Amino acid sequence: MSGDAPIIVVGGGIAGLSAALAAAPAPVLLLTRRPGAAGAASTLAQGGIAAALGAGDTPAAHARDTCVAGSHHNDVAMVELLTASAPAAIAWLQAIGVDFDRDADGRLQLGREGGHDRARIAHAGGDGTGAAVMRALVAAARAQPRIRRIAGCDVDALAVRDGQVVGVSATLDDGSRQRFDGRAVVLATGGIGGLFAATSNPADADGGGLALALAAGAAARDLEFVQFHPTALAVPGLHSLPLVTEALRGAGARLLDRDGQPLMAGVHPLGDLAPRDIVARRVAVAVHAGGAWLDARHIGVAWPTAFPTVLAACLAHAIDPRLQPIPVTPAAHFHMGGLATDADGRTSLPGLFAAGEVACNGVHGANRLASNSLLEGVVFGRRLGQWLAAVSGAENRGGEAAWVGLGPALPPPALQRLRALMGAAMGPVRNHAGLQAALDECEGLAAEGWQAGLARALLAAALQRRRSLGAHYRDDDASMAGPVAAA
Ligand code: SIN
Repeated sequence: MSGDAPIIVVGGGIAGLSAALAAAPAPVLLLTRRPGAAGAASTLAQGGIAAALGAGDTPAAHARDTCVAGSHHNDVAMVELLTASAPAAIAWLQAIGVDFDRDADGRLQLGREGGHDRARIAHAGGDGTGAAVMRALVAAARAQPRIRRIAGCDVDALAVRDGQVVGVSATLDDGSRQRFDGRAVVLATGGIGGLFAATSNPADADGGGLALALAAGAAARDLEFVQFHPTALAVPGLHSLPLVTEALRGAGARLLDRDGQPLMAGVHPLGDLAPRDIVARRVAVAVHAGGAWLDARHIGVAWPTAFPTVLAACLAHAIDPRLQPIPVTPAAHFHMGGLATDADGRTSLPGLFAAGEVACNGVHGANRLASNSLLEGVVFGRRLGQWLAAVSGAENRGGEAAWVGLGPALPPPALQRLRALMGAAMGPVRNHAGLQAALDECEGLAAEGWQAGLARALLAAALQRRRSLGAHYRDDDASMAGPVAAA
């Protein structure tokens, strides 16, 4: 490896592309599983990007809401960095071509979502924000000659020399293997929703990057905190479920039980816009009791312009949300935990960096505030890329690198079993007995594939945290008796 070896970025979502664009003019090698924006969880994001841009709003108010949502488990310095950087992140995205929605006076149209004390969310193309942002980022990366992209690459091993990560190897779509040397390796591989029975993520958001870094000895943080989105479209038999955006509840949609009664009545003062974990638990209980629905019929003629993505997903499953309530279910949505990183994306392993959902710098605490995830990807991805561009690479000290690999993947039936276990034990409501039983079964599965080893780490972290906090809710924590616990 030499000082002019490329910076390797693994992952083509919002964090990876933001890091790659900021790291160029240094040479960047971008390795992605799929071409363009396809397959990235960022592309599916229906929420927008939170930023204190409205009259009277401030980064401090945005930071306050972020910490309340995170149950004050957040790293306050990271939160302040995120919210102070948010307006500039929006401006940068506009500069590369993202056309955020505007009101009749030409001002940015700001929406409201759960946990925000005011309208603060910028959208592009209504509920198609993730796709709009990804289109602009992919185009910008294609126009940047210092970024070389190789798609169809499944990175499954890290090269480590003298304690420093110096490259990766990948299985390519044609089954061949290829090794890449770099002066830094950035993991921007997304979340772990694919390990659960139902997820709003793409199915291959399976935590591979996280598992790989843990196998190489990188430190993890807050692995037990997984956010469940309360309203994924309930399609029987489907694993990766279309999201039914929270912005619909921001626009007045109401959750109903099987008798058509308001689901959130008497549960929380904010009703349908209560913190996401509270709504997710309530919906989980209702689904168990026969079903939960979101009534958004009042959106009426605005459906195709304001919520085109949800409308299309519903119609594809023969549900017309203009005429009928939408069946919903909670789904694994976002991992607050991940590889422990600092503000510049450094992990505990020299040469290894992380950005976006795979990383955890403490910004989200125990529960992420709505529309802070695309923001995190841009802010911390760019910071990391700028930092890497400014520092020179380590000198080539020669010698053979040792390889740390993921090992075999679970065969499909075992993966199915693991997802069921994780959905039941690590879902919106947890307890010692369920977590321990799942962990015991995972011990056996771990010999069959790496996903079970990762699940073991998540279950162990959840077992260790005996008290409920944020998205980690334990119904065997006597201090937490309440309307949802009792339901
Ligand atoms: C949503 O649109 O409901 C999801 C937004 C987010 O997860 O931030």
